Amino acid sequence: MCGIVGYLGNSVAQDALIDGLRRLEYRGYDSAGAAFHDGNAFSLARETGRVENLASTLRESNPTSTLGIAHTRWATHGAVTVSNTHPHLSHDGKIALVHNGVIENYGPLKRILEGKGIEFSSETDSEVLSNLIAYHYARLEGEEEQFAQALREALSQCRGAYGIAVLCVDEPGFLLGARRGSPLVVGLGDGETFLASDASAFVGRVRDAVYLKDGEIALLREDGFRIITMQGEDAQAVSQPIDQTVEDVEMGDFDSFMEKEIFEQPVALENTLRGRFGDDGTTAKLGGLEGHEDELRRLNRIVFVACGTARHSCMVGEYLIERLARVPVEVEHASEFRYRNSPKAGHTLVIAVSQSGETLDTLEAVREARTKGLLTIGITNGVGSSLARETDGGVYQRVGAEIGVASTKAFTSQVALCAMLGLALGRMRELSPIQGREIAEALQNLPENVASILQRGETLRELAHKYSEAEHLLFLGRQDLYPVALEGALKLKEISYAHAEGYPAAELKHGPIALINPECPSIFLVEEGELGAKTIANMQEVKARSGPVLAIVPEGVEVPDGAADDVFRVPAVHEVVRPIVATIPLQLFAYHFARIRSLDVDKPRNLAKSVTVE
Ligand code: AGP
Ligand code: GLU
Repeated sequence: MCGIVGYLGNSVAQDALIDGLRRLEYRGYDSAGAAFHDGNAFSLARETGRVENLASTLRESNPTSTLGIAHTRWATHGAVTVSNTHPHLSHDGKIALVHNGVIENYGPLKRILEGKGIEFSSETDSEVLSNLIAYHYARLEGEEEQFAQALREALSQCRGAYGIAVLCVDEPGFLLGARRGSPLVVGLGDGETFLASDASAFVGRVRDAVYLKDGEIALLREDGFRIITMQGEDAQAVSQPIDQTVEDVEMGDFDSFMEKEIFEQPVALENTLRGRFGDDGTTAKLGGLEGHEDELRRLNRIVFVACGTARHSCMVGEYLIERLARVPVEVEHASEFRYRNSPKAGHTLVIAVSQSGETLDTLEAVREARTKGLLTIGITNGVGSSLARETDGGVYQRVGAEIGVASTKAFTSQVALCAMLGLALGRMRELSPIQGREIAEALQNLPENVASILQRGETLRELAHKYSEAEHLLFLGRQDLYPVALEGALKLKEISYAHAEGYPAAELKHGPIALINPECPSIFLVEEGELGAKTIANMQEVKARSGPVLAIVPEGVEVPDGAADDVFRVPAVHEVVRPIVATIPLQLFAYHFARIRSLDVDKPRNLAKSVTVE
């Protein structure tokens, strides 16, 4: 949540800062601001609304400073106003700060500072931190490394999560950053150094990056950088090449990142699956699980922890893994698992799934699991993310940057990895080589199946148009298609603000059927076989009550006349990949539904891509 960019170099800072903020805008877009070091003072530009508003203000003031920090906010403390917009200057004008996260004890700290006569001009927790640093800076007058020391002192008093970039007016060639709970990365360029909450801010400008660990401070100077701990000791700075490309982080010919990412799915899935099948083609081989084979053979319970869309992928995983490997699986909201004292039973594996790898609720669930001594595995798209670092083993999704706030390609790749895990665990147990091969082949054919649906995107646009007046919609499916229904409903509500609910299809008659009327369409996900016939019977119950029905149905499954108003056909595939195939039309449906309403699908109201607060 929220984007941070800092620049120190020999070019004008505003260009790099604005470019960086545009790339990070998906992390928060309530308001945006920048502060520049102007020799003996800071100049500040802050605007509510989108980064473009700030960019046009800067075009007029045209600051030429080569040192600056910038921020795009996702408000937690205080309304979306100019005075709450970051950067926050300290009362004496000495410190400028941008902050991602929440300082939980900002109230008591603020009262202490107010007691010393300091006045505040915003409602944010961040301004308290800026003033706390300034307070220690003044107190440490004359000491060596006064600025860095003041920062350490201030942070030692803070509880909560932060990623920060800080400037001091007396230090014209010095940019500081620190993290705890919120990501921060240093970009190393030629004659220029960046600090950002996400490497996409400087992709194309620098090749190598140093990902800060929790509790580290980055000291960036014109002639180099150091990483230190909160205790002031030198820490190891491991630089690594940035794995993203400019194409990854730019929209190209697409209308939105969401559309681009939906259409990237055949390639994204190919990348997720590549090189991950055993040599005999009957099992999956996930590098991140190597070394844990004995534990995986022994395990008798899996607990998934995740949030939002990532949790829906785990729910699909529950059906797939139980079916393939016969291991009991539970799926928990990460935020609930963390506080629920779930009993430690048998050999439990905890799998955390997170696109960003930075979702605080998920990270805290992992920390809780590790405290209990449980084996933890992460499935994430965030290379070098906190989740990747804090789990015992892990699997990267390899789908490239996902920038649209509504997760699409990350979801289908997470489901594919759950299927791979089911296959690997199944082959360690009762799954035969023949079954294993069938599943491996079905997974390998998946990119082609997905591409064939994407080619029929226009039909989904027409269907979305037909139903776009609806303010209430139901999504219904059984078994592994039930979490897909939940995901379809989440996608739609996130980007179109229509009210949508997902239910197991048979659950309809236990309550939600009361909502059915000609204005409330139901979207049914139909499977093959006996259960599909039951789902079709549920569709008929809706039709009998004048509810409009759109059915997503595999080729070859007959839909009786009058059971649906519209039928969208998907390829008939192996049941293991069925949930992914069924997801694609729902993503396109939601996308077009929102576009027809002229909404910005990449930046839905109130949301942010990665939620790094509780
Ligand atoms: C997805 O469309 C949502 N914006 C949201 O539910 C998201 O999946 C959730 O916040 C988890 O994010 P993560 O995968 O980065 O942990
Ligand atoms: N807590 C801070 C605020 O409300 C930072 C929010 C953010 O991460 O954007 O301003």
